[in-house]
Amino acid sequence: MKEKNWQWNEFQQIGTDYSSVDEVEAYDRRMRDMRDIDAENRTILGLLKLPENAAVLEIGTGTGAFLRAAAKTGARCVGVDISPVMLEYAERRAKEENLPNIRFVHGGFLSAPWPENRFDGIVSGLALHHLPDLWKAFALRRIHAALKPNGRFVLVDVVFDWKSEAPESYFERLIRERNSSRENLIRHIAREYSTLDWIMKGLFEHAGFVLEYESGRMDFLHLYCVRKTDAVPQKLRARG
Ligand SMILES: C[S@@+](CC[C@H](N)C(=O)[O-])C[C@H]1O[C@@H](n2cnc3c(N)ncnc32)[C@H](O)[C@@H]1O
Repeated sequence: MKEKNWQWNEFQQIGTDYSSVDEVEAYDRRMRDMRDIDAENRTILGLLKLPENAAVLEIGTGTGAFLRAAAKTGARCVGVDISPVMLEYAERRAKEENLPNIRFVHGGFLSAPWPENRFDGIVSGLALHHLPDLWKAFALRRIHAALKPNGRFVLVDVVFDWKSEAPESYFERLIRERNSSRENLIRHIAREYSTLDWIMKGLFEHAGFVLEYESGRMDFLHLYCVRKTDAVPQKLRARG
């Protein structure tokens, strides 16, 4: 995208700074302790319903764990991340597992160049919350354009389920209920751009997606699978 003075700088540091390979390795270990990464990847691959020889893009690929699982199904994969250190680590892991069908590109949701109508599936885990909502909308339009017709996008991210409860009591309850990674959650509420479920769904709809599947854990960790449509929803068309 051409440099503009109103353009969000997605390369600025938001959240944890993975500035060394040691920190990335520690992140990788922590994630493997906290999450059942293999099960997550199986779920995501099942939702994407990829055809043979699919083209897959992951944005904010981090250590590249999802792409390694996708590449093992025979998919041609591209991983994008703003962190050169993450990319270096992901590249090394892909080489160690002898997966030449993964290519890594430095860039992000708003800046990485990708062709239109190219990918059967796009995935992003725990990365979109680095953008404010306005820029999430920009990112989703780019994701929509990059997908083939009926291609699917799976988003896993911190998205809050706050509905009618008083906001203070909702967020304080969430924090109280966390035994571990409380600091992480506080950072997401206070200093990152984690959004709300109903906003996220509106952003999907506005970008031209239909929701096919959603699941949530712990009131704030959401998985959405959306499919690209070309039809602008009736109510958005009426608003102009
Ligand atoms: C918490 S890690 C998640 C990594 C991996 N997707 C996972 O689920 O474990 C977030 C990743 O998003 C990357 N990231 C942050 N902002 C980004 C942006 N605007 N575009 C692409 N990647 C971004 C970070 O560099 C980091 O590697």
